[in-house]
Amino acid sequence: MEITEEKINEIRRSVNIVDIISEYIPLEQKGRNYFAVCPFHDDHNPSMSISPEKQIYTCFVCGAHGNVFNFLMDYENISFIEALKLIANKVGIYLDIGNRFGKRITKNENMYEIYDIANKYYQNNLHTKDGIEALKYLKNRGFTDDIIKTFGVGVSGRNQLTKILKAKKYSDDILLKSGISSGSNELYDTFTNRIMFPLCDLDGKVVGFSGRIYNTEDSSKYVNSKESEIFKKGNLLYNYHRAKEECRKKKFVIIVEGFMDVIALYMVGIYNVVASMGTAITKEQAKLLKRLSTNVILCFDGDGAGNKATLACAKELQDVGITPKVVRLPDNLDPDEFIKKYGVEEFNNYLTNYKSLLDYKLEELKKNTNFSNSEDVSKYLKSAIQELYQITDPIVKEIAIKKLSDDTGISASTINGMLKNNNKVINIEKKQIVKLNKYEKSERELIFYMIRYPEVIRIYENNKCYLPTQKFRYLANEIVHYYDKHNNLLVADFLSYLSDKEELLEAFNIIDVMNLSENYTHEQIMDYINELNEYSINEQIKKLMNEFKKETDSIKKIEIAKEIQELKVRV
Ligand code: UTP
Ligand code: MN
Repeated sequence: MEITEEKINEIRRSVNIVDIISEYIPLEQKGRNYFAVCPFHDDHNPSMSISPEKQIYTCFVCGAHGNVFNFLMDYENISFIEALKLIANKVGIYLDIGNRFGKRITKNENMYEIYDIANKYYQNNLHTKDGIEALKYLKNRGFTDDIIKTFGVGVSGRNQLTKILKAKKYSDDILLKSGISSGSNELYDTFTNRIMFPLCDLDGKVVGFSGRIYNTEDSSKYVNSKESEIFKKGNLLYNYHRAKEECRKKKFVIIVEGFMDVIALYMVGIYNVVASMGTAITKEQAKLLKRLSTNVILCFDGDGAGNKATLACAKELQDVGITPKVVRLPDNLDPDEFIKKYGVEEFNNYLTNYKSLLDYKLEELKKNTNFSNSEDVSKYLKSAIQELYQITDPIVKEIAIKKLSDDTGISASTINGMLKNNNKVINIEKKQIVKLNKYEKSERELIFYMIRYPEVIRIYENNKCYLPTQKFRYLANEIVHYYDKHNNLLVADFLSYLSDKEELLEAFNIIDVMNLSENYTHEQIMDYINELNEYSINEQIKKLMNEFKKETDSIKKIEIAKEIQELKVRV
């Protein structure tokens, strides 16, 4: 049975968004709305408002916006269907999700099966004659039987797996696609003689492997199975599914570089940890970290590469609204080596004595400055100010300015002056970036009122005009379509309707949180429409002008000129 829109709306209406959100975060009522510290960015003041009337939430800082399902999807890190199921279960509405879900699962079912068989095979090998040496290696590194089991560690054997899988009638095609087998005519095992670590997706299903050398010399320490439709390294974090609960409990997440580091932390009882599995992190991984907690501690390797990775990772996180904390380990050690050398207590000391990102960055800048060279000092100050302007806390700012002044011998008031100038430049730059032209403004404002007033949808329909931006054009079409079908446009329901159209959902959120007057006049709407018509005519003229230039036939040239003339009269 397909889940109907009516069913989805019924489920949504059966709860009050205020009740549901208050199960996760504390709310405070102010007037008609409720307010909370936003869980979706590094928030310090209550920036999120929840409207019982509209049944939606909005964060005025990070732009998070949606209905009760969107909240659960982002907070619990679940799919739309799962959010739907959660609410349905809560209120006792029966939901038959057979088909809508079924399709997605069967699509890559073969691949999941292959990884599952491989996983069992590798794990079993570890306890056979073929695994003796590998097991010895693991035990030497402190792996207990429990840890081996928890992380599903195994060892690839002697080219048996491909044969096993072929005997189970898997095609060469899919075996190659899975990365478990390689070759052209005669397939063979991709992994031999390596310790195998399964890599899981966000739900904990195995989607790939990483194999480590243990008894041979090889230029690559780890080899990963190749990327596929279900395995994209940049879209997952090692240990995500196991760490989820613990991060929520501990209210912070530690990110390390290697999965051996994750395992080392597990061995000493630290479970709120994930690994990036390499150096830099992707935007997608930053978003995943944010889902685990907005309180992130970066604990990368203590070497130069780890330093670079720390800065790069901090940047990605800041782009999604998180200011991470930084732990730097001494002597080029990674967390695994550090704990072996100094013990867990000392590691915990480093965790509690983390550095703020600002202090860390200023220290880094300082390290590279020769204070007896005035050009160096000037460069140092300028870079430091770039960092400082982002800081909103006046006390943090003042302390940093004092430190800078002590370091450089430049007076605090001069530094303050530089900071003010810098702010001006930055503000101008910011304004330029978001400056919309009048047509873009008109299309957004028109949609803003379409969302609120059916009459405006009608006016738009009757005066068909062309919106310049594709996503907003599509959104306007969806609004018309939805309204024609339902004869209403309840924002909270419309959001469910958009749930699988990510770009339109984003476009909707940009518009719905705009700060415009709630009332409109007919004249104002007609002004938007006229502006947009003017835009579309100008575009047509531009196109014709181009044709005119290229045209060599003089009769046709006259025709085009005539057309242009006619259009020009209309603007
Ligand atoms: P590291 O080289 O820091 O590994 O790489 P590690 O965690 O210290 O491992 P051990 O202690 O030497 O066994 C960090 C991560 O980078 C990826 C792996 O995911 C690893 O966990 N990596 C590293 C590769 O993919 N390939 C490599 O050859 C090396
Ligand atoms: Mn290591």
